[in-house]
Amino acid sequence: MAADLSGSAFLNACRGKETSYTPVWFMRQAGRSLPEYRQARGDVDILASITNSDLATEITLQPIQRYGVDAAILFSDIMVPLMAIGIDVRIAQGKGPIIDRPFRSKRDLSRLRKLEPETDMPYVLETVGNLAEVLQVPLIGFAGGPFTLASYLIEGGPSRTFEHTLALMRTEPLLWHDLLEKLAEIAVASLQSQVAKGASALQVFDSWIGVLTPDAYRRNVLPATIHLFSNLAELEVPRIYFGVGTGELLSLMALAEPDVMGIDWRVPLYKARERIGRSIALQGNLDPTACLAPFNVVVEEARRVLLQARTSYPGYIFNLGHGVLPSTNPDILKRLVEFVHEETTDLSYKMGTGIGKEGHPGKERHPGDRPTTQSKRS
Ligand code: CP3
Repeated sequence: MAADLSGSAFLNACRGKETSYTPVWFMRQAGRSLPEYRQARGDVDILASITNSDLATEITLQPIQRYGVDAAILFSDIMVPLMAIGIDVRIAQGKGPIIDRPFRSKRDLSRLRKLEPETDMPYVLETVGNLAEVLQVPLIGFAGGPFTLASYLIEGGPSRTFEHTLALMRTEPLLWHDLLEKLAEIAVASLQSQVAKGASALQVFDSWIGVLTPDAYRRNVLPATIHLFSNLAELEVPRIYFGVGTGELLSLMALAEPDVMGIDWRVPLYKARERIGRSIALQGNLDPTACLAPFNVVVEEARRVLLQARTSYPGYIFNLGHGVLPSTNPDILKRLVEFVHEETTDLSYKMGTGIGKEGHPGKERHPGDRPTTQSKRS
């Protein structure tokens, strides 16, 4: 039977509710930094390993067992729903997703059919179901955001300049709009099906939106993103929105009304708080390269992140500002989780006034307040 998650620090923090310590998880926590991941994957192609539910279940659980993080993230990839509807996508090791026949014209739109998760990607739903049975922490389901998926489709692979993507956005606004709406629909269908099978939170990774100007984001990406998030609202699970290089976009991204905003390492969290207002929780944002340093340096930087999050309690989740780098020593991450948990049971970190969500008003906190919970971990 699925675990009772009502006391989950992660879910409560997503909702801006009091927790007795700050929850932690890491983007890309399941991956090449773990020796047990490299061993389990072996030579199996990443997309093939995702279609093997037993393997994907095992890999998702690895960081939970090793690190004691407060949430699991499904082992899958943002390209999987596209593969599932027949797009010729593969993932080149060390490079990223490759599509041999990129999207360049209106004719290509017909290649994007509606996603039927139960029949198109049953393996993902089986993995989610397996995990919901055994996990004692929430499972985060996820999907790629419309801009990032469009960029892989249009470029045919990873890009530094996104030139084909931005050219299509400028020269074919109607086609662009239709493409983004279709990709948002695919994300909605995928995320709905993950929640139906037991995911208790969702993250939309629109990783590469930071390449856009605020005006371009507002006109060309925000409408499909609002559509995406509003369609997920009825699922009643926390919805996290994440992108890289979003400093100038955060106030616009907030208009999509996610429950949680993922912040990259370049924006101090108190500034992110100013930009997104008081009704959205924050997640982030230790620089992933900091985790390559000796542990005393990691602690110094993590402490700075916690201090900068103080205006966000209790709506705050510790994470990195982007994914774990493959060269990260797993022992450092394990000690980092312990550090954040221990450090944040100390009330001096919780001076924030909370996030003022209707129905879940953040409790006012002042220096010298007594703890409401005595237990170190709940
Ligand atoms: O632990 C987790 O975070 C869950 C698994 C996960 C993967 N991909 C597995 C994976 C998640 C959440 C993703 C999302 C994803 N995939 C994003 C958004 C997150 C981000 O990093 O911004 C993006 C942009 C992709 C596309 C993609 N897939 C890239 C750029 C790469 C890297 C290529 C490489 O080899 O460095 C992948 C491959 C991939 N997806 C790996 C993993 C663990 C590494 C490849 C491997 O293990 O062989």
